[in-house]
Amino acid sequence: MAMSNMTVVDIHTHMYPPTYINILESRQTIPLVRTFPQAPDPRLILLQSEPPGRPLTSHYTSLDQKMHFMDTHHIDISVVSLANPWLDFVDASVSGGVGESINNEFSDMCGRHPGRLFFFGALPLTAPLETIRSSIDHLKNLKYCRGVILGTSGLGKGLDDPKLLPIFEALAEARLTIFLHPHYGLPNDVWGPRAEEYGHVLPLALGFPMETTIAVTRMYLADVFNKVRDLRMILAHSGGTLPFLAGRIESCIIHDGQLVREGKVAKDRRSIWDVLKEQVYLDAVVYSEVGLGAAIDASGSDRLLFGTDHPFFPPLTTDEQGEWESVSMNADAVARAVGEGSAKAKGIMGENAIRILRLGEKA
Ligand code: URA
Ligand code: ZN
Repeated sequence: MAMSNMTVVDIHTHMYPPTYINILESRQTIPLVRTFPQAPDPRLILLQSEPPGRPLTSHYTSLDQKMHFMDTHHIDISVVSLANPWLDFVDASVSGGVGESINNEFSDMCGRHPGRLFFFGALPLTAPLETIRSSIDHLKNLKYCRGVILGTSGLGKGLDDPKLLPIFEALAEARLTIFLHPHYGLPNDVWGPRAEEYGHVLPLALGFPMETTIAVTRMYLADVFNKVRDLRMILAHSGGTLPFLAGRIESCIIHDGQLVREGKVAKDRRSIWDVLKEQVYLDAVVYSEVGLGAAIDASGSDRLLFGTDHPFFPPLTTDEQGEWESVSMNADAVARAVGEGSAKAKGIMGENAIRILRLGEKA
């Protein structure tokens, strides 16, 4: 896809700053980083379902490498975020301080390339509510911060937990957009006894998107989007399967005897379709114009945002310093879905992100 005649913004791109890598290196249980004598790079092991892990290359840790990746792929601006599993596993007694250090490291990285880098901060969700609030206050005053990256576990009980409402309210008030990203997938036994033969395909291709779908549907059913009307969320991987399944979710709601009896299916209720068009944005990291078509139909092409998922999905048979097929697959899908060089393509590839995340604003 010709990317040279438009501004390209990558809103789904991760890094692990030094404080985080130090923590992973010190750990004996997953997530962890382990060095093996026979392997050139340390191994990053994030999930129970991927025992050998993956090579922890400089793509995960080096700012110069991130800039090289951006230049190679004609990406003008990146909104970087800590990769999974964020601070979810960090002990409550230290997570506030760890979060502050990591958010400052992201802020400093952005300051080294003004205008080219912004970031989504990480919240210390294991800490007491007051510490989480202080973290939001800290982030809202950081010049290059535009939101927070969030997993689906929340405070440990998922995103429909009423205890999360004050956090959602504080984020909405601070105009910090949530970037919702999966990590936990589905329980391993759903992949069956032969799972080991299938590499990491099932948890990543299916577990991740279902996790996001379930998390957001639970939020919808718990009425979170009405309770916090200014909440804005970018859903990773084009919303999991939400655009495709929204109709079925709606049908299950209006045909549910319990919900109808409890008066939860009022005629003027905002449907999940309304929420998708008013409070949700979707990234375009779905690798095909078929999925992208559903995302556009559900939320509108003006709510779709290009992303790469760098440094995950590196090329396996070509030079990692060159072009990544995982990037061109997503860029080509946008061109095929809305027409190469069209106004909609320009929106999805960059202009939407600049508008939605206020990337033109000099703070
Ligand atoms: N695998 C991960 O663990 N995280 C991503 O963001 C992508 C793939
Ligand atoms: Zn990602």
